[in-house]
Amino acid sequence: MSQPSPTAVAAPETTLDAGRAVLSIRGVHLAFASRDPQGAVRHARVLNGVDLDVGSGRIVGLIGETGAGKSMTATATIGLLPPSAAVTGQILFEGVDLLRLRGVALDKVRGAKIGFVAQNPRAALEPVTRVGDQLVRLIRAHSNLTGPAARQRAIEILGAVGIPDPQARYRAYPHELSGGMAQRVVIAMALVNQPQLVIADEPTTGLDVTVQAQVLDLLRQLVRAQRAAALIITHDLGIVAQYCDDMAIMFAGRVVERGPVAQVFASPAHPYTRRLIAASRARIGHALASIKSDPPDLFRETKACVYADRCELAAAVCQSAPLEKAVSLTIPEHRALCHLVQLP
Ligand SMILES: Nc1ncnc2c1ncn2[C@@H]1O[C@H](COP(=O)(O)OP(=O)(O)OP(=O)(O)O)[C@@H](O)[C@H]1O
Ligand code: SF4
Ligand SMILES: [Mg+2]
Repeated sequence: MSQPSPTAVAAPETTLDAGRAVLSIRGVHLAFASRDPQGAVRHARVLNGVDLDVGSGRIVGLIGETGAGKSMTATATIGLLPPSAAVTGQILFEGVDLLRLRGVALDKVRGAKIGFVAQNPRAALEPVTRVGDQLVRLIRAHSNLTGPAARQRAIEILGAVGIPDPQARYRAYPHELSGGMAQRVVIAMALVNQPQLVIADEPTTGLDVTVQAQVLDLLRQLVRAQRAAALIITHDLGIVAQYCDDMAIMFAGRVVERGPVAQVFASPAHPYTRRLIAASRARIGHALASIKSDPPDLFRETKACVYADRCELAAAVCQSAPLEKAVSLTIPEHRALCHLVQLP
């Protein structure tokens, strides 16, 4: 797919209702406890106070280097963290804190109201159940469709995500599908019940560019038509520029900058965002350029800014953690986590 320049961003077709957050992540901390060779308990601090909103009718692109905590943010939201995870904060979906939901109450939300595409999609498929049966089960569980109508809907969504000969694939077992096709089946499962929120963790990585465009167009249609919302995790700034309305940049378990895509590309405020955008502009396709450096030490306890070790602008004040601040008077949703951010 030929991607536009990151500055040539797609304007949202509607900003109606944009102020209403479908998903509000507030101050989420996540740690895993483990024992070091001496037997002492250590905490790997994976998320360090994540704040993020996904507004109605909008697609948010979540970017950041490997290990930044993107998948853990998604996994916490969908309630699939392992038992060893200690999580605090709030994840509000339509006003309900998902971190407090358990069992049946959580199941009712997942699959019906929230569609999830995991970073490893094949793991989401049951190996001994035909693809069509898995889809029909989801449809029957969360809609009024049954019998031939449910089967028809399953075939329709398989076609919509670019699966050739969907009638035949309906009867396939997951092991009979290529990796790209299995990925599209999982995307179909996430979208089939027309959820209010879609969380997709690198949903199109590895798909060819035509199918990638088809899947992302379908997602956009869903979001626009139903005033739904989507959070897409990606390493591709071209996808963010072309398909997203808002973006959030993560570093070391924090969202260090967020705001409307056009605004962030035009006036990146955080030193990390500036480096990412500058580095990606120099690359074809705008895949997220990695900036050579060691990943942050998850076990280290520090009160300093999470980016201080890498920041060329770090000063004495950066030994205390900055608060998130508005970057612009006119677009208050554009916010960054840096002591040096000042309103013009
Ligand atoms: N069970 C676990 N125990 C300890 N640390 C973990 C566990 N699961 C994940 N982590 C750590 O959490 C951090 C964030 O992981 P996460 O998968 O969210 O990164 P990511 O931003 O999605 O990266 P990528 O772009 O590579 O997918 C990583 O350093 C990872 O090693
Ligand atoms: S707070 Fe300081 S160290 Fe952190 S990004 Fe801003 S200037 Fe750099
Ligand atoms: Mg990930």
